[in-house]
Amino acid sequence: MDRVRTPVIAGNWKMHKGPEAARKFSREFAQVAPPTGSRTLILFPPSLSVTTVRDALGGHGVAVGVQNLYWETEGAFTGELSAPMAREAGARYALVGHSERRHVFGETDPETARKVEAAAGAGLVPVLCVGETIEERRAGRLEEVILRQLDAGLERVDDDVAAAMLVAYEPVWAIGTGETATPDDAADAHGLLRSRLRDRLGDRAGDVPILYGGSVKPANAAELLAASDVDGVLVGGASLDPRDFAKIAAA
Ligand code: PGA
Repeated sequence: MDRVRTPVIAGNWKMHKGPEAARKFSREFAQVAPPTGSRTLILFPPSLSVTTVRDALGGHGVAVGVQNLYWETEGAFTGELSAPMAREAGARYALVGHSERRHVFGETDPETARKVEAAAGAGLVPVLCVGETIEERRAGRLEEVILRQLDAGLERVDDDVAAAMLVAYEPVWAIGTGETATPDDAADAHGLLRSRLRDRLGDRAGDVPILYGGSVKPANAAELLAASDVDGVLVGGASLDPRDFAKIAAA
């Protein structure tokens, strides 16, 4: 049986908001944030703003994560950051395999698997993102693509880690486009992911929150959160405005 979960409301700022803008957001969000405890709130700022948001909003029940990391611990990897460094800076979560990593930067399934492993190894909670492109959806390949990404992402971790992670279903065609999956579309994809998790984890599959992402706004958050197997949302554009993000958190 699935346990009752606190809805997860996560904001991915992408390449927006350096420390100054992050401070301003945090000041404003602190005024309008929902009561702590009713929601699991997570923000993924750019790495340069992680400590700022941690310091400003940690006391308001907001956890912080990084948007990406490299699997090595340290070394000659110019431009990269490691999971232990992210942990030390106060991150508790790590996005892995976001569609922009996959499609803009060419990140592969095996690389995603290594990042999941590295994040978990450093005590971060991986948030594995999966999602199909519009061409894949039209070709009837939704199931094949998202289950392949899920299986691949979990390949290098054991069941205890897999049961403690989060998964985010983010159809690529809905990201930043204003086009949202319907609650039924989301429920269908989330059902497929849940059943694949159940094949591997049995009852513990119910412990894995599956978030929906892709043009989530204050106006559509409640109906998406009400859809079957949707345990939270991963919000891009609308998480940049403290009032909009607070409205989604209260949905
Ligand atoms: P969006 O982005 O809400 O701007 O569509 C979602 C995401 O990429 O996580």
